[in-house]
Amino acid sequence: MIFLKTPQEIEKIQEAATLLSQTFGVIAECVAPGVTTRSIDNAAREFIQSHGAIPSCLGYGGFPGTCCMEVNEVVVHGFPSSYALRDGDIIGVDCVLELNGWNADMCYTFPVGNVAPEVMELCQTTRRSLDIGIEACRAGHRLGDISNAIQTYCERRGYSVVREMCGHGIGKKMHEDPEVPNYGRRGTGAVIRNGMVIAIEPMINLGSRNIVIERDGWTCRTRDRKPSAHYEHTVAIVDGETRVLTTFDYIADALGDRFI
Ligand code: MF3
Ligand code: CO
Repeated sequence: MIFLKTPQEIEKIQEAATLLSQTFGVIAECVAPGVTTRSIDNAAREFIQSHGAIPSCLGYGGFPGTCCMEVNEVVVHGFPSSYALRDGDIIGVDCVLELNGWNADMCYTFPVGNVAPEVMELCQTTRRSLDIGIEACRAGHRLGDISNAIQTYCERRGYSVVREMCGHGIGKKMHEDPEVPNYGRRGTGAVIRNGMVIAIEPMINLGSRNIVIERDGWTCRTRDRKPSAHYEHTVAIVDGETRVLTTFDYIADALGDRFI
């Protein structure tokens, strides 16, 4: 069941989304060769908690971090750890916070130092596919239009779309109906309407689309161990307009010309 939100409720989610976007400014300042994913996670948790918000992932089903850490072949749900980032890595940081009872969700894949051109292109394509998906998210259209736009854009460029993981509704809970797959057919799925709040999050692979879950029960990686990229925004439909509630602006400020 899809819970539609009032404009006042969406204003609350906007406040959560703004704090989350600012958290990513802090995260972006941390990402560098030699830095451990756990230290990035700690910085995110301290920023979130010191601003009166709750890190939604921490303890969720036993998840041990504030952020999911997606290094190279990790697609989603990697644990923060003592792994120190290396020159040439990419790292997706996926984070959800709750402020005054409302959640926002966002992910950004950062290049670390000098990244191979084909991997940079994977990141740029995935990043662009998020914008393409958001452009397809229009009141009166259907969720499958978003899915199809992302799939078509990425597959035409030779990349593959992870199918087991999807975008989702978000609100009082971090995962609500509807599911928002990154593949599908135009004109299918629920009609996009005022009050919908969804997280759109393409997860795109350089190699095949197949994934495996590691023995920790969480870490999801590509089967062929080729890299995967992931970007995510929380968006809302208000007065017939699509509003992107999260922003990468704080990341752009921190990264300068390294921003994708
Ligand atoms: N943004 C992630 C998702 O939508 C959040 C996962 S939090 C976790 O799946 F605790 F489940 F890892
Ligand atoms: Co999400």
